[in-house]
Amino acid sequence: MKKVPLIIDTDPGGDDAIAIMMAKGCGMFDIRAICPVNGNSPLRDTKRNAMDLACYYDIDTRVAVGANQPLYRGLITNSNFKRVAKMLKKDGEDDFQYGGQMFDFAFPAPTKEFDPLPAWDVIYEEAVKAKGELVILAIGPLTNLALALGKYSDLAPLIKEIVVMGGSAYAGNHTPVGEFNVLIDPWAFAMVLKWGIPFKMVGLDATAQAYHTLDELKEMADMDTTIAPMLKTAYDGVVARSNDPNFPPHLKGRTVYHDALAMACLIDPEVCSFRHTRVEVELSSPIAFGQTVVDKRPALTAGEPNCLVAQKVDRERYLEIVLRCLEAFKKEEK
Ligand code: RIB
Ligand code: CA
Repeated sequence: MKKVPLIIDTDPGGDDAIAIMMAKGCGMFDIRAICPVNGNSPLRDTKRNAMDLACYYDIDTRVAVGANQPLYRGLITNSNFKRVAKMLKKDGEDDFQYGGQMFDFAFPAPTKEFDPLPAWDVIYEEAVKAKGELVILAIGPLTNLALALGKYSDLAPLIKEIVVMGGSAYAGNHTPVGEFNVLIDPWAFAMVLKWGIPFKMVGLDATAQAYHTLDELKEMADMDTTIAPMLKTAYDGVVARSNDPNFPPHLKGRTVYHDALAMACLIDPEVCSFRHTRVEVELSSPIAFGQTVVDKRPALTAGEPNCLVAQKVDRERYLEIVLRCLEAFKKEEK
């Protein structure tokens, strides 16, 4: 079966790491590039993490460094939201950052170099090569994609589909209504949406259904795979959080790999139901800044539906997809 050309735009991130593992493991995609962006951590970390993953998973692909800042920070710097305030001005820098490694795992030293071109040029180059067949998995803030579309006016028709982990039809995770990937760069999300490229939004209300229990995480970590050491640190991290009295109760004994569900939607579109509706992004309210306003009863808002919004997730089917992808990393029988 001919592999689908795929670019992964990402801010690794533990859940990004699982999504990228699945992109390789499913065997369906020709991963043309992995493009790190500022997001979970500053670009200096996300670019290193992207390279670490490409090498650890043995993915023969371009790692093309993207944006180290959102298009425009705007209102978010005046945030009175605790999680955002904590990330801003950390170590004296005005930057969103949790920082550091993924899963606190010490990856082996990288074995290749970053691409000489920046992400936005690589996205365009690969889109031209793929002649309209390129699919994009966007699992971080959409800054790279917005810059690519802004720089190359003929890029949009060359992109077959964009699947985004981002937004939420209901509650946010970094403000009451703001989901992190959109909140970091809402202008980028709004700009990409405006281009009219087939767009699937896999938001928090869907990813929350695709949780992994501790037993399910242990099953992954116990598989005899080449990436078991990384998965064991992922499992240990969730155990530690589950024993932490300060951790939110709803995340004890389980975890959500948000980006992995977006990847699963590319592998098996039936894993999730979708509604074709209109999504707008709030760009001017200091309270609701970065909210994805999803019309849950299409035609309440003026304008045509502009994206497919993930609704109901078949969690068992999702878990099977993840395990099937992980099988590809099984150690060779001696
Ligand atoms: O809100 C969840 C998203 O923000 C995920 O993509 C996670 O990796 C972070 O980027
Ligand atoms: Ca991410």
